[in-house]
Amino acid sequence: MKFPSSLLSLTRFLLLLPFFSSAWLDFSVATNTQPQPQYHDLLHCLCSQEDAICNLIYTAQNSTAYASVLQFSIRNPRFSNNNASSSSSRTKPIAIVTPTTIPQVQSTVLCSRKHGLHLRVRSGGHDFEGASYASLSSPFVLLDLVNLRSVTVDVPSKSAWAQSGAVLAEVYHSIASASRTLAFPAGLCPTVGLGGHISGGGYGTTLRKFGMAADNIRDALLVDADGRVLDRAAMGEDVFWAIRGGGGNTYGIVVSWKLKLVRVPLRLSAFTVSRTASSDAEMTKLVDRYQRVTDKLPDDLMILVMIGAVDQGNSTKQVLQAAFQVMYLGGKERLLRVMNESFPELGLKEEDCKEMSWIESVLHFANYPSNSTYDVLLKSRTDSPISFAKLKAKSDYVGTPLPESALQGIWSRVHQVEAGAALLHLIPHGGMMSRISDSSTPYPYRAGTVYKIQYYVAWSGEQKEVEERHLGWIRKLHEFLTPFVSKNPRGAYANSRDLDLGMNDPTGETSYEQARVWGEQYFKHNFERLARVKAAIDPSNFFRNEQSVPPLSM
Ligand code: FDA
Repeated sequence: MKFPSSLLSLTRFLLLLPFFSSAWLDFSVATNTQPQPQYHDLLHCLCSQEDAICNLIYTAQNSTAYASVLQFSIRNPRFSNNNASSSSSRTKPIAIVTPTTIPQVQSTVLCSRKHGLHLRVRSGGHDFEGASYASLSSPFVLLDLVNLRSVTVDVPSKSAWAQSGAVLAEVYHSIASASRTLAFPAGLCPTVGLGGHISGGGYGTTLRKFGMAADNIRDALLVDADGRVLDRAAMGEDVFWAIRGGGGNTYGIVVSWKLKLVRVPLRLSAFTVSRTASSDAEMTKLVDRYQRVTDKLPDDLMILVMIGAVDQGNSTKQVLQAAFQVMYLGGKERLLRVMNESFPELGLKEEDCKEMSWIESVLHFANYPSNSTYDVLLKSRTDSPISFAKLKAKSDYVGTPLPESALQGIWSRVHQVEAGAALLHLIPHGGMMSRISDSSTPYPYRAGTVYKIQYYVAWSGEQKEVEERHLGWIRKLHEFLTPFVSKNPRGAYANSRDLDLGMNDPTGETSYEQARVWGEQYFKHNFERLARVKAAIDPSNFFRNEQSVPPLSM
């Protein structure tokens, strides 16, 4: 596989692979083409509630649009192609419902439940394991929120109501259209859906100043398993706590969120500087210094790092490159002073620093061309600078800087052929993250976490052996990191779903003890409270997926 010669190209390359894959064009769905017993019952039930919903249901039997509706928000092509790999053998929905109103969401829940059909909800479709649209268990109905994506900003109260089907680009666009000094602290990728993102936490470039997306929610509307619409007061504080980071498709369907907007300066500093190391030892030195300062910098400053191997000119030899994504809520003069005091090893110069508005920083970190206006965000679903490769992700938390031997071990693995297009992303904590209690929301990685590592491997090609080779590589890297990262339990980020950590039984009859294995990696001590909340809001475990929290009764 030929590699790009810069890491920025590499990130785009990682995400662009499927467009070079002819199988993308041959998309066909590994679905059940045989009519399912409950399929007619479901249609009858939904259509008897309301005529309009009949036109919003797609099945492989009744609609030629089924495949394109399903494909539209599949953001990990590992789970889309009908190929020979193990990943593609998952069950696809027997029906897709795309409601335009909340009552239609309620009807879909009630009709699915009445006819014993499993239901999954999809907002932006970025689940790394495809859990919103591909199942390892029974046939299911897909409730796709693609038509529920309005965003209403109220500047005086610094808040916004945003429907879950909105993607981050649409949320950011609405906020920027209403105010130049308000923002919402959420992810970097414009096509991530609000529904899944907040359900699993949500970090972005202002994490150290304002915390996670889930820390900035004032209210929500939840459709529960009985089809009721509950706001914060009606659902109660326990459920409101659980839906802000305790995992998607578990407590009900969040149809909208009331976001707490944050104040940002008119101009801030946002840019990416890349450093190519002449040797692995040089990269070790730079990253070693980075990990010793990154969580101690002022809250206004966040430096994320992407590290990968890139081609070196015309030679076949690969070198390591680190792209430092710098976000500073202030001007470049002050930033340069801070950097020269705290992290001179980066060698930041005035010409590296770029000042812009918050919304321009959104465009920058989403890889839009520098002359783009923010209206491009409205086209992000169909015309995005980011598109997607077959991908496997894993995550870890670092509480003590990795020793040099660990860094060297990572680099040697990144150079291996099996790594293909691999990337490490370091996300610093500290700042506001260490002042929020570890039980304030289900996300427990607060004080004591220096940074999170997200690692990815991406590939093209349809053969099972190719997939296995890359999966093997990332699993071995995860194993290698065991002694160096958080322990007892080892940490993982819920929004970086990893089914290697464990899974519910396909029947849904998973015990609390069984689910603790991965549940405590995502939520630590908060897992037990989540399971009790689950028992209170959805005792029959209607909302479930491979890693949903099972109910724990008193
Ligand atoms: P999707 O629709 O697949 O949903 C994910 C899960 O939530 C599923 O289990 C689904 O059923 C459930 N769910 C969805 N909508 C729901 C609703 N309304 N109510 C209840 N449950 C619901 N993360 C991050 O923190 N910062 C970042 O910068 C990025 N960047 C990023 C880039 C790319 C390219 C990818 C693929 C992923 C990320 N992520 C991320 C991870 C992302 O936050 C995570 O995958 C989210 O769960 C995606 O939410 P979606 O709604 O897009 O996914």
